[in-house]
Amino acid sequence: MLGEFSYCNPTKLYFGKEALGGLKEELPKYGKNVLLVYGGGSIKKNGIYDSVLAVLRECGKNVFEDGGVMPNPTTEKLYEGIERAKKANAEFILAVGGGSVCDYAKALSVSIHCKEEPWDKYWLRFEEPDCEVVPVGCVLTMVGTGSEMNGGSVITNHAQKLKIGHVFGTDVYPKFAILNPEYTFTLPHYQMVAGFFDIMSHIMEQYFSGEDDNTSDYISEGLMRSLIHSSRIAVKDPKNYEARSNIMWTATWALNTLVAAGKTTDWEVHMLGQAVGAHTDATHGMTLSAVSLPYYKHIMPYGIAKFKRFAVNVWGVDAAGKSDEQVAAEGLAAMEAWMKELGLAMNISQLGASEEMIPGLVKSTLVMEGGYKVLTQEEIAEIFRASL
Ligand code: NZQ
Ligand code: ZN
Repeated sequence: MLGEFSYCNPTKLYFGKEALGGLKEELPKYGKNVLLVYGGGSIKKNGIYDSVLAVLRECGKNVFEDGGVMPNPTTEKLYEGIERAKKANAEFILAVGGGSVCDYAKALSVSIHCKEEPWDKYWLRFEEPDCEVVPVGCVLTMVGTGSEMNGGSVITNHAQKLKIGHVFGTDVYPKFAILNPEYTFTLPHYQMVAGFFDIMSHIMEQYFSGEDDNTSDYISEGLMRSLIHSSRIAVKDPKNYEARSNIMWTATWALNTLVAAGKTTDWEVHMLGQAVGAHTDATHGMTLSAVSLPYYKHIMPYGIAKFKRFAVNVWGVDAAGKSDEQVAAEGLAAMEAWMKELGLAMNISQLGASEEMIPGLVKSTLVMEGGYKVLTQEEIAEIFRASL
């Protein structure tokens, strides 16, 4: 049964090889002073920086730069960016990069005019902005997070050993996103597959919750099947446009609020993964792949019907003559085989975590209530131990 909800996603998407044309249409709608936000330099190597700058110049913008946004953007970087944006009197923020750059741009957008301490207000107290929000647009270069069409902004506070995502309201969503699948062709294999698993995890987080008959779950199954199919092509042939474009589109729909409409969701894998990220700074998608199997094996008995459905509808497991437990376990085994095929991190030791870190990891893990089992501290420790 679908619950009560209102639905609106205000982000306009421009998709395809000519998507950058959309930037020319959009930029004139916003102020003259543009803060161009980007990461560690990949866009300078692959030419995207030059293409974007040419459009900004053509549109007569005053361009101010804020580069060097690191994967898993930090509070320190945010505070530096706020000063930079204020000096530039930024009227628009153009994020060119992956989820980190888009998340950081959204964090800046709500922090530039914020009268309080942004980390405390938004990431600890989860309050909504009550100041002017500077509009953001995205040119996406890495596929996975869905940040291009949602209000999510994940920030890491190293001093507090916390990595927290605030999901802001629609005022903070990017006004537009430019999605050119070819822009993702230069991603290293490690980042590409980490993004693939991030997509899978987003869908699973929303799928493995509730026992109702819900349209969203059928949409999720279709998205997962498309992702599995195209990811198998993309790992062998990374420049396969059809596969990479399907994956880009799947990523956007996996986390733009559509498949969460009218249903409960879990998000515990992200809480476990973000704890690992806060302590190791590892790549987001890999932190999720490293904890997923131990987590899902742990909660499977509490949601057996859904795990059976996942096995049959997503992985094509033949259920005839088998117990529900057997079918469900075969589904997870099929997922494990796929994960190994992609070359994902299968444990947290690979990412720099160790036995001694477990108490700290447990402390950094937020406990969610929408999954099939609300975890105790001991269960969280057990899952981390099983992930070593
Ligand atoms: O910094 P540069 O030099 O650009 O290099 C990046 C970075 O090293 C590189 N890269 C990106 N596009 C490239 C490229 N290299 C070559 N060619 C390209 N076209 O890839 C590396 C990773 O980039 P990053 O933006 O960090 O990856 P991702 O998109 O996975 O973003 C991760 C961040 O997003 C958060 C994560 O927690 C993490 O902080 N998330 C945001 C969400 C949201 N907004 O809803 C939800 C997610 O669950 C996630 O938590
Ligand atoms: Zn994620």
